[in-house]
Amino acid sequence: MLSITHTGSLRGEITVPGDKSISHRSVMFGSLAKGVTNIKGFLTGADCLSTIDVFRKMGVNIEQNGTEVKVCGLGLHSLKAPVDVLDCGNSGTTMRLMSGILSGQSFDSSLTGDDSIKKRPMNRVITPLSMMGASITGREGGFAPLTIKSSKLHGISYESPVSSAQVKSAVLLAGLYADGETSVTEPVLSRNHTELMLSVFGADINSDIKNRTATIKPAKELYAADINVPGDISSAAYFMVAALIIPGSEVLIKNVGINETRAGVIKVLSDMGGDITLLNVDRTGEPVADVLVRSSDLKGTVIGGEVIPTLIDELPVLAVAAAFAKGQTVIRDAAELKVKESDRIKTVTENLAAMGGDVQPTEDGMIINGTGTLSGAEIHTYGDHRIAMSFAVAGMAAYGVTSLDDSECAVISYPGFYDELNKLC
Ligand code: S3P
Repeated sequence: MLSITHTGSLRGEITVPGDKSISHRSVMFGSLAKGVTNIKGFLTGADCLSTIDVFRKMGVNIEQNGTEVKVCGLGLHSLKAPVDVLDCGNSGTTMRLMSGILSGQSFDSSLTGDDSIKKRPMNRVITPLSMMGASITGREGGFAPLTIKSSKLHGISYESPVSSAQVKSAVLLAGLYADGETSVTEPVLSRNHTELMLSVFGADINSDIKNRTATIKPAKELYAADINVPGDISSAAYFMVAALIIPGSEVLIKNVGINETRAGVIKVLSDMGGDITLLNVDRTGEPVADVLVRSSDLKGTVIGGEVIPTLIDELPVLAVAAAFAKGQTVIRDAAELKVKESDRIKTVTENLAAMGGDVQPTEDGMIINGTGTLSGAEIHTYGDHRIAMSFAVAGMAAYGVTSLDDSECAVISYPGFYDELNKLC
């Protein structure tokens, strides 16, 4: 259990850990490429360590020295059959992207993970991969553990019913092994790290952003590349909100990834009246900037439509910001929140209400009437890292004592999170 009390202003400079999505992909694509991939700024969170572990079990030599990782890639067709079930831990990205990669291998495999991931929907990848000819089965209802049998894959044009980078990536990765072109169209564009990075590794992949369609040609081989992972905007979001809602704060967050398929949190917080300035913007690879945030009087807003996939993981902490804002905030078109590491419509609204927030859950989001203040309460994190970190921020701005029943789960995406927060106090 962790206790948090009301904090004075936050001031200083921080660098957040590497982007989780990009870290996963750098190890995956590096393992599938021929040659040595050197990764700098790798996220050492538990989720990304699960991805390393999965590839080591298939014979890939991966040396990890803190945030520097060297992947000795075996090539697209040289992974070894694992002797054991592959454990994805808490990581949805690992399980869903691996489903696509493993569907194209010449050996059978099984994927499992922790209790949370065994409750998360896998039919969203089983359905399109089966259309490609994959043989992939889960427990009844489409839940992990998953068993994947070796089969021949065909190219498809898939209209995904959900805007999910995990689904899109699973299909595109299977497409590397198919007998023809594969394309994925999504209702709203989701994060495009797979498209950007696969192209760096030499894949023939094309993004038609206007039509929200990514197309990949089967590959003979991928080739190693060096990857610099930018800071994770999802992790930076906790410091942005903390600095905005705690009076007198000024925080500079260095080297944050601001890819526009991820940067909705900056747009929304700015629309709410947040004083946020981007400095040293560099768009040579994945775009990065230093983000300067000063405390501000926030006002309510509507968060819905096309912006949702660009800030889906930031909605818990945006809900905290909304509770401290003046007026009403409506979060809609975000039913995906229900199938994250916890049902985040339930876990956010329940915990905000416990802190005295005026909040109503809806079918696809929530409505928050900003009260400008919250009071300390007992928070149930449900083992969800983003709930723990969002309510740690709420606890610092609230009056009284806030306790988190399980704060340790922050290691999934941000080892050392609470120490970093403390350093700014
Ligand atoms: C991720 C995609 C998103 C996001 C998750 C990471 C990725 O999930 O919530 O934390 O790395 O592709 P969905 O694809 O399910 O939206």
